Amino acid sequence: MRFSSQTSVALAITVASLAESRPSPSSTDARRTGRRWLPSADKIRGVNLGSSFIIEPWMAGDEWSSMGCGSSNDEWSCVQSLGQDAADAAFQKHWQTWITPDDLKEIQSYGLNTIRIPVGFWINEDLVNSGEYYPKGGLEYLDYVVGNATQLGLYVIMDLHGGPGSQFPGQQYTGHVVDSPGFYTADNYERAYKFLEWMTERVHTNSAYFNVGTLQVINEPVHSGDYPSQAADMVANYYPNAWTRIRNREAQLNVADNNKLHIQYMAQAWGSGNPSQNLPDTTFAFYDDHRYYKWDTSVTATQDGYISAICSDNRGGSDTIVGEWSISVADDVQYNSEFDIKNTDANNDWYKKFFAAQVHTFEKSGGWVFWSWKCNWIAGFNEWRWCYKSAVDAGIIPKDAASVASQSPC
Ligand SMILES: *[C@@H]1O[C@H](CO)[C@@H](O)[C@H](O)[C@H]1NC(C)=O
Repeated sequence: MRFSSQTSVALAITVASLAESRPSPSSTDARRTGRRWLPSADKIRGVNLGSSFIIEPWMAGDEWSSMGCGSSNDEWSCVQSLGQDAADAAFQKHWQTWITPDDLKEIQSYGLNTIRIPVGFWINEDLVNSGEYYPKGGLEYLDYVVGNATQLGLYVIMDLHGGPGSQFPGQQYTGHVVDSPGFYTADNYERAYKFLEWMTERVHTNSAYFNVGTLQVINEPVHSGDYPSQAADMVANYYPNAWTRIRNREAQLNVADNNKLHIQYMAQAWGSGNPSQNLPDTTFAFYDDHRYYKWDTSVTATQDGYISAICSDNRGGSDTIVGEWSISVADDVQYNSEFDIKNTDANNDWYKKFFAAQVHTFEKSGGWVFWSWKCNWIAGFNEWRWCYKSAVDAGIIPKDAASVASQSPC
């Protein structure tokens, strides 16, 4: 990230000259004076709005059942089984209630400055092919969420989380659980470019989107180890073309250099290759590192093992953000006496440390975005290891995220 005071001055001038196209700020309006960057002293501290625009049943079980989708594994199969109109009505109710303006105010009141919004390409309904099953009508609610976030001064990372054809096999986050990932074709890349161009235009022309400063070109694509030709093709073709299509659209819109979007790629640590290898330029490139110690089998799954792995870890420079992480631990130990949270509070102090240690490590880089803000009914109980809001309620995550910087968990 480029958080210099010189940049802020240049931005203030750019923003002032664009101001006439925007409504004047109300008294409660906390929108930033610099369009694309947080103040130089800040780290990104945020939460994902997971399961808002792409529901993952594993983390939203009650919600999913109440929508009548209980027997479906993903959005696609729910839409197919309910039928388009009934599904759209069920999803509309979900969008109205899962994240409300009060949630965003609560996020801000907890000392967080950023939200990452996972969306599927299908939020632009023009890009959906016949024979594909996705809910319709989400865009109106995305506009509300983004508009409310902008008004509160929250920085927004817009994340293409579900790509056309599905970019990873067997995953609910793609919106369509497939055996074989279908994203890696010229036709599906083209649909994704169109999504990125459309979103770029929306960001630069719709005042609700004023605080969208980062556009992520695709979330969690395949790993080179499992799908070598697809991963290599993406790094060689999709990644640079996505960059060029976004920048070309910005050029058509006469967006000043300092007002351009950060374009975000999964970091090299994700395992699809070096994301910047073929980019025409890396000015305002960001990298997204998903760091789940839970799934790192090289980490010793004991209380001390986790803390020592975290405290010696280093995730990259200020252009790298840990865009997903949690305070969940390895599946095979999560209900052991050392880690249980279901029947005991005995481990609460350790979980506070587990949270704080990760924050410390991730703030050596550009910052962090927790997965996720809200969830319900994981494994039949209030599983706050994945849910920021519930973890604050449980007293594990402090009410002021910035206060963690003065702790010494390592
Ligand atoms: C905030 O969200 C509400 C609906 O949830 C909407 O009516 C309102 O227009 C939004 N505000 C902005 C500035 O987008």
